[in-house]
Amino acid sequence: MREPKVISFLNYKGGVGKTNVSVNFATHCAQKGLETLLIDWDPQGDSTEYVGFGRENVEYTVYDFLAENIHPEKGVTIRPTAFENLSIIGANASLKNVEHLVSRQEDTFERFRDLLHECANQFDIVVIDCPPANSHVNIASIFASTHVFIVTTSSSDSIDKIGLVDKMVGDISSVIAENSSDGFGLPQLSGIVLTMAVENTVGLDVAQEHLKAIWGNLIIEPAIPRTVAAAYSVSENVPLMVSRQNTKIAIRYRKVFEEVLRRVK
Ligand SMILES: Nc1ncnc2c1ncn2[C@@H]1O[C@H](COP(=O)(O)OP(=O)(O)O)[C@@H](O)[C@H]1O
Ligand SMILES: [Mg+2]
Repeated sequence: MREPKVISFLNYKGGVGKTNVSVNFATHCAQKGLETLLIDWDPQGDSTEYVGFGRENVEYTVYDFLAENIHPEKGVTIRPTAFENLSIIGANASLKNVEHLVSRQEDTFERFRDLLHECANQFDIVVIDCPPANSHVNIASIFASTHVFIVTTSSSDSIDKIGLVDKMVGDISSVIAENSSDGFGLPQLSGIVLTMAVENTVGLDVAQEHLKAIWGNLIIEPAIPRTVAAAYSVSENVPLMVSRQNTKIAIRYRKVFEEVLRRVK
C-alpha cells in the first residue's frame, strides 16, 4: 500500500490565491507523472472550472460521496480531466449541503477522513483546494490531510490568519492521535506559500521579514509574483503550468512546488 499523501492548501481568507496554487500544483504533479487527484472542496467550484472540467459536468461532489455512500473509484466515480494523470472530484453549488451534513452527523469528519484515505490509496497524491472561512468544512479538510500548506498574500489580514490555522492543525492532530490509529499520517502544518507578491516593494520586503521572523523554515521561497498571466489562464480555464510553461510565474511555481513535494516525501 502507498503511503497516503493528502495535501490541503488553506487560508481562512478568500481571494489569496489558494485555487491558483492548488490547481497548478496538482497539474505540476501530474506533469511529473504522479497519479494526482484534485478535490474541489469549495462550492464555488473555481478549481473545477480552472482545470477545464466545468461545474456542469460534475456528477458527484464530495457531498454526494458522503451523503449517498458512493464508493470512490478512479475512472468511474472519480473522473479524469483532459490532462494526463490528473483526476478530479469536482464541485458545484450542491457541495454547500456538506455544512448541513456536518451539523447533523457527528461522524462526518471521520467519514471524510475515511473517504480521503480510500482516494489516497488509488493515487500518488491528493490535493484539496479549500474554501475560505474558519468553518466545519475546513476542519474536515484538516482532519483528512497529512500535510497542510497555508497560502497567503503579503496583506496583514491574510497573514493574520496563519496563527489560527496553525492552532487548528495542532488541535485536530491531538484529537486524532487520541482517538484513532488508522495509519494515516496526522495532519501537520508543512509550509507557507507567499503569493500575489508585488516585487521590489517595501511592503513585500516587510511582510517577508515578518513572516520569516515568526515562522522560520515554514516559509517556502521564492514568493509567487502577481502577474496578469495568472488572471488570463484562469479566464481561459487552462492551468498556467500547461499554457504558460515558460513564464516567470510558472518557473517560480515549479520551484515552490518542488519544495512542497520535498516536504511531503
Ligand atoms: N499570482 C497571481 N497573480 C495575479 N493574479 C492572481 C494570482 N493568483 C491568483 N490571482 C487572481 O486572484 C484571484 C483570487 O485567486 P484564487 O486562486 O481564486 O484565490 P482563492 O482560492 O484564495 O479565493 C483570482 O481572480 C485569480 O485569478
Ligand atoms: Mg478558491
